[in-house]
Amino acid sequence: MRLPCLFFIFLVAVDAGKVLVYSPSISRSHLISNGRIADALVDAGHDVVMFIPEYELLTDSVGTKKATVITLKGFNLMANNGALKPLRDMKFDVAFSEQIDLCGVGVIRYLGIQNHIWVSTTPIMDAVSYNLGIPYPSSYVPSIEENDNGDKMNFWQRAFNLYMHIGSIIIHRYGTDGTTEVFRKYDPDFPNVRDIAANSSLCFVNSDEVLDLPRPTITKTIYVGGLGVPKIANPLDEKFSNIMSKGDKGVVVISLGSIVPFGDLPLPTKQGMLRAIGDMADYHFLIKISRGDENTRNLTRGLENLDLVEWLPQVDLLAHPRLKLFVMHGGINGLMETALQAVPTVVVPIFADQFRNGIMVEKRGIGKVLKKLDIGYESFKSAAETVLNTPSYKKNAIRIAEMMRNKPFTPEERLVKWTKFAINHGVLEELHVEGSRLNTIVYYNLDIFAFLFFVILVFFRVLCYAFIRVISESSDCNTRNGLVRSDPGGSTGGLEEMVGMVRLVRLLCFALLGTILSEP
Ligand SMILES: *[C@@H]1O[C@H](CO)[C@@H](O)[C@H](O)[C@H]1NC(C)=O
Ligand SMILES: *[C@@H]1O[C@H](CO)[C@@H](O)[C@H](O)[C@H]1NC(C)=O
Repeated sequence: MRLPCLFFIFLVAVDAGKVLVYSPSISRSHLISNGRIADALVDAGHDVVMFIPEYELLTDSVGTKKATVITLKGFNLMANNGALKPLRDMKFDVAFSEQIDLCGVGVIRYLGIQNHIWVSTTPIMDAVSYNLGIPYPSSYVPSIEENDNGDKMNFWQRAFNLYMHIGSIIIHRYGTDGTTEVFRKYDPDFPNVRDIAANSSLCFVNSDEVLDLPRPTITKTIYVGGLGVPKIANPLDEKFSNIMSKGDKGVVVISLGSIVPFGDLPLPTKQGMLRAIGDMADYHFLIKISRGDENTRNLTRGLENLDLVEWLPQVDLLAHPRLKLFVMHGGINGLMETALQAVPTVVVPIFADQFRNGIMVEKRGIGKVLKKLDIGYESFKSAAETVLNTPSYKKNAIRIAEMMRNKPFTPEERLVKWTKFAINHGVLEELHVEGSRLNTIVYYNLDIFAFLFFVILVFFRVLCYAFIRVISESSDCNTRNGLVRSDPGGSTGGLEEMVGMVRLVRLLCFALLGTILSEP
């Protein structure tokens, strides 16, 4: 009676599942990334709940337009057990959380959900590669944390890169041990949150293979950069189409994001940039400022080729044929939107992964990086004019955009198909990489290197010893021939060598024992 059983399994492989997306309100861009995931899954027919612990007060948007939203105020989620109960009762098939902290991973396990899917909201974070066992060759993979290095590094850059990587892992371990302690207050047997994360079924990465610096990955890392970015732009309203028609040669848009808006730049920087804008009279400029920034309005009074706006339809503007250059901070979402529309850019990295995203742009030849501390009249003008006047930037941007659009499977398809796969098959244990469970000594074979080192050392000691014996014997010979006087301490020297050898062998034994004991 095998058949009915098989039939049952077939029936269980459902099309729609219950999905939880854990999305703390850390910043607008994180809500947007998570919201795009939630919306794509709703479109695919899943029942999606976006759970938002409110770290920062929610203002205009919660990121998702289609999922059910549950918010929870206050920092101490765990003390608020009553609020978590309805979530536990919903019996989700699978839950998403992002890499920014491992609280989400813990909450998901605490809710009794075993099947976890991780999201890296930037190119693969150091902590993500560390936990999942993704190979991280620091010689050519730049750490994500504030880092000006690309994938070609000289000796000191590699040293700095390694230092940044190890530093971020140490901080990560410290932070996640703290997180684990919080959960252990409520459940003493709670596993370390890093171990839960290591068992994630999949990891969706908010980056694109064509744009990102190439690096080794594992099967469970799936690139979905560009997810939810509208591929077809809406027509502009009257105000913006009027702005886009200005400028003999086209329009340049400057939008530095919400963390450090234009108005927050130092006064000399702003004055320098505005002077450069005045010089580039062939182009019309559009700067996004924050709400009520009278200061900048006063500063720019009298500049003919400039408009200020407090909000702009970014994707629609990027798609406009008269847009020639986008000056941005290099946040990954904005960068994807820009690259997909083939717009050359000048990136002014402000913090976190933005430095590395800038390197991506330079490597692909679709723009230039302008360091935030260097911006002024000269540097801004030269960067903007270089990108505007060198045709290769636009040419490369078109090639990258075409590849991003034409690569096999869209980000939505990848997200939806793999999520469905995880819903149908439960925890994807088969994709777990053993490296995620090894300690550092074994992972890097440090024990074998230590062993080899000692073997070589012993070999040379023996060689040395033999050599000394030969020499002293031949000198004995020489003395016998009366040519050289023998050294009376010669034989004691040999004894010292022997004692040294014994010590060495003992040391070797201890080292071996140590490494064997340190096996997990
Ligand atoms: C991770 O998965 C392994 C089996 O693949 C299991 O033995 C282990 O308990 C899991 N760890 C956690 C913390 O769930
Ligand atoms: C801007 O200029 C107006 C009039 O010239 C002045 O009243 C106002 O205080 C200025 N605002 C700032 C923030 O400088």
